[in-house]
Amino acid sequence: MKKPRLKFQTPTGMRDILPEEEAYYERVYSIADQYADFYGFKKIETPILEDYELFVKSTGPTTDIVEKQMYLLKTKGGEYLALRPEFTPSLARSYFENGMVAWPHPVKLYTRGPLFRYERPQAGRYRQFHQINFETFGSKKPIAEVEIIWLFVKILEKLGIKNIVVEINSIGDSQCRPYYKKVLTRYLKRNETALCATCRKRLKRNPLRVLDCKEVRCQKIVKQGPQIVDYLCEECHDHFEKVLEYLEALGIPYILNPYLVRGLDYYTKTVFEIIPQKDQETRQSALVGGGRYDGLLKLIGKQDIPACGGAGGVERIIDFLKEENISVKRKESTPEIFIAQLGDEAKIESLKLIEEFQKAKIPVTFQLSRDSLTNQLKIANRKKVKYVIIIGKEEVLKKAPILRNMETGDQKSVPRNRLIKEVKNALKKEKRTRLK
Ligand code: HAM
Repeated sequence: MKKPRLKFQTPTGMRDILPEEEAYYERVYSIADQYADFYGFKKIETPILEDYELFVKSTGPTTDIVEKQMYLLKTKGGEYLALRPEFTPSLARSYFENGMVAWPHPVKLYTRGPLFRYERPQAGRYRQFHQINFETFGSKKPIAEVEIIWLFVKILEKLGIKNIVVEINSIGDSQCRPYYKKVLTRYLKRNETALCATCRKRLKRNPLRVLDCKEVRCQKIVKQGPQIVDYLCEECHDHFEKVLEYLEALGIPYILNPYLVRGLDYYTKTVFEIIPQKDQETRQSALVGGGRYDGLLKLIGKQDIPACGGAGGVERIIDFLKEENISVKRKESTPEIFIAQLGDEAKIESLKLIEEFQKAKIPVTFQLSRDSLTNQLKIANRKKVKYVIIIGKEEVLKKAPILRNMETGDQKSVPRNRLIKEVKNALKKEKRTRLK
């Protein structure tokens, strides 16, 4: 059905998350929370707004995110703030600002929540989206990024997602990358006329980005060009070899993709993406992206601290769960008790009673806005509850609600202080008869 055009609607590229969809978010978050806790990643939260220069400096001035996609605002006090487009710079800022430098290392952090990028909205690409994000500060060991990849693979597996592949590459560091950049630029310049318009611009500002251009004409040229793996210095080469060795030993399926560079400026050495096997050709829908970024923390806090991390796109993961018909429905406990009330005193008494039932972990259902007892009993019938507790003015005064068995129609007054116990016993008895 076509939705009526309303005066107020969600901004382009942003969506309401309705109750049915919330079940998916809850599932992804609860599994990520469990894994973060188990693997020792401490959960933190940072503000949605940050000094916009933090992203210019960290995400990188030539990235699409900084050039085109940041939501910027000027406050009444004249500060320039940005809605965070990613978590990594915020966590690096928080690491220094909160003295985590003095914590035992590595410092492993986990965060999740909404991010904002002014992108052209399309399937799997939103202007407000969510990530689950893990970072490790203070380890230059290859096992640190393998731990992050492993964690994401395990989270996806736990969600029921199996047909995925890890694409991986090394993009070197400040020792070896500048020379490769020179060689690549020389090669691309010779083929400049055959590149798409965007790549012709990239060639001047960020030639590495030409490598992961989706245009067929550019891919053709790139495929015949020099590959960074052949230009890695000894340290980067050994590091990458170790990463691949670990992945093999852990049985994580991976594919070496020499053209994977990722769209953020801070990466050094390992970069990776996790994508559904069926999307390997198009590579439009990475579920997870990350890598090592040994130079970033120095830019923010002036201290040389190696780091690595990764982020999973919650909407991408949810879309994939839906495509694969993977259910996230929790078995909801269906209430067997309905609380029916009549009059103001009874409504107040009902609220107190509901709280007691919650403490006793007995699910109940009710309709406090209804006044007619007949109506409430009809609802109780429809919900097929076993018992109804009826509270009117008199029951409040006598401190003895009525407990009615909906199957037999039998009912009796139960002293208020014995009610929970009585209900518990009745439900137990009911269960025993059902099992016989
Ligand atoms: P990213 O590749 O920009 O990396 O984003 C990570 C994931 O977020 C993507 O693989 C995708 O699933 C999801 N994502 C990104 N943009 C959108 C969008 N517009 N709509 C829906 N989902 C989206 C980062 O953000 C890095 N900070 C990851 C990282 C952490 N690297 C090191 N540590």
